[in-house]
Amino acid sequence: MKRTWWKEAVVYQVYWRSFFDSNGDGYGDLEGLIQKLDYIRDLGVDVIWLNPCYESPDKDNGYDISDYYRIMDKAGDMATFDRLLHEVHKRGMKLIMDLVVNHTSDQHPWFIESRSSKDNPKRDWYIWRDKPNNWRSYFTPSAWEYDEQTGQYYFHSFAVEQPDLNWENEEVREEIYKMMRFWLDKGIDGFRLDAIALLAKPEGFPDAENPYDIRYLTNNPGVHDYLQEMNEKVLKHYDIFTVGEVAFVSPEEGLKYVGEDRNELHTLFHFEVCDEMPTWDPIRFKQIQKRWYEGLWGKGWNSQFLNNHDHTRQVTRYGNDKQFRVESAKLLATLVHTLPGTPYIYQGEEIGMTGVKFDSIDDYNDIAMKNKYAEEVAKGRDPKEVLESLQLLSRDNSRTPMQWDDSEHAGFTTGTPWLKVNPNYKEINVKQALADPNSVYYYYKKLIQLRKQNSVMVYGTFRDFSENDPYIYAYTRELDDIRWLIVLNHCDNDNVYELPEELASAHRRLLLGNYTDVKEEGATLHMRPHEARIYALQ
Ligand code: NOJ
Repeated sequence: MKRTWWKEAVVYQVYWRSFFDSNGDGYGDLEGLIQKLDYIRDLGVDVIWLNPCYESPDKDNGYDISDYYRIMDKAGDMATFDRLLHEVHKRGMKLIMDLVVNHTSDQHPWFIESRSSKDNPKRDWYIWRDKPNNWRSYFTPSAWEYDEQTGQYYFHSFAVEQPDLNWENEEVREEIYKMMRFWLDKGIDGFRLDAIALLAKPEGFPDAENPYDIRYLTNNPGVHDYLQEMNEKVLKHYDIFTVGEVAFVSPEEGLKYVGEDRNELHTLFHFEVCDEMPTWDPIRFKQIQKRWYEGLWGKGWNSQFLNNHDHTRQVTRYGNDKQFRVESAKLLATLVHTLPGTPYIYQGEEIGMTGVKFDSIDDYNDIAMKNKYAEEVAKGRDPKEVLESLQLLSRDNSRTPMQWDDSEHAGFTTGTPWLKVNPNYKEINVKQALADPNSVYYYYKKLIQLRKQNSVMVYGTFRDFSENDPYIYAYTRELDDIRWLIVLNHCDNDNVYELPEELASAHRRLLLGNYTDVKEEGATLHMRPHEARIYALQ
């Protein structure tokens, strides 16, 4: 298999508005990120993924861009961005930018022109029709918005304020490629491409049988032509790393985006776990891992993540954030860093930050949640019940400010934070984590170091030895004559794992575990709640 830096990398995602506020306006900013770069570097990560910081009215927290060539005021300015890039590189790390090319803001000058009249030269830069079909968007009951000025509907896959660009229009594509070159020529190291599977729209927009099943928005014919063109005209000319957000794909479909012979993207995020598995479902999770491994291995590259700015924090959603928070956070980290693919850490995950429950809808900011709340309440449903039903998966679970210390607002800001801080910041914060040698933070550091020193963690083949076990996940990674065994007890109780003959006969050496005093017990492993172990077998 071809060895590349991005396969070996560990990526740290910075949701800058919640990371560190340097000027007291309540929003994190790029200057704040610069001030915390040593913290990120010390963890050992290689790449920072920066959420969108372009000019934006901020209806969807930067995913509605109104000027691709400017930095939004809340984040800072271009000079600060340039300094950030320089400071990241100075520390031996790389920076990838989140880029949204499926849609813009409705305040983007292109859209303002497009909506101004039917014969405006930019009319065709967006998607206009006389009649809507029955599609829903991700965030609203209809994917079409009526515009009185010209008496037509425009198409939006997300919020009303996020009109989709018309990728069939060559001028649009050329304009986007030009803008991508602008950022790459600055020296950034790649892109996380937002909603990239949505670029192509189906001929004629036929009605959906079930409009609630919004898979129709993605993977439509033509998407690969656009990506191959993007690669040909832009991406292949730079030594960069690209990761596409690709919802609703099977491994077979996924391979079309990342196949090494396809010249499209390097890696993808598929969402079979985060979008489609609401709570921990061990057998299903194992099947997903196995299918993606078999589908991609040797041909294309996967990513590993259990949360990001759109998904509830992993220790709350897939682990135990109460009695076993520390053990559970470490187990989940072990999982993400030892399964095949590039591992991602979402800010705060490395100190075991948890999700939140605010008492009132007014304390939430997430446009997806707020729109859904309004839709359901308008149908006459009990507001309290609606709120409760939306809390677990609200995107604000992961967007609360980073918890730096136990001072007011967790040391995130001296002003009023744009989103409330999680009330548990007095116990869970960076200062505390750095002072405790057994913290989640130091466990991450060791895991990352282990990956750096052992290419078996990156390039080793994968085999599951526990397919039908609902609690224990045991698998090997193997490269040449090196074989590692990972055993995880994803459960609140003790469990026993009987090693199969071919593993039991090998000599075991414990490389890392989340409990001290592990006793070696022959072929029977006695695993404690949320215990994780990584062994070298000889
Ligand atoms: C995916 C992003 O991660 C999410 O935050 C955003 O709302 C949508 N794409 C729309 O851009």
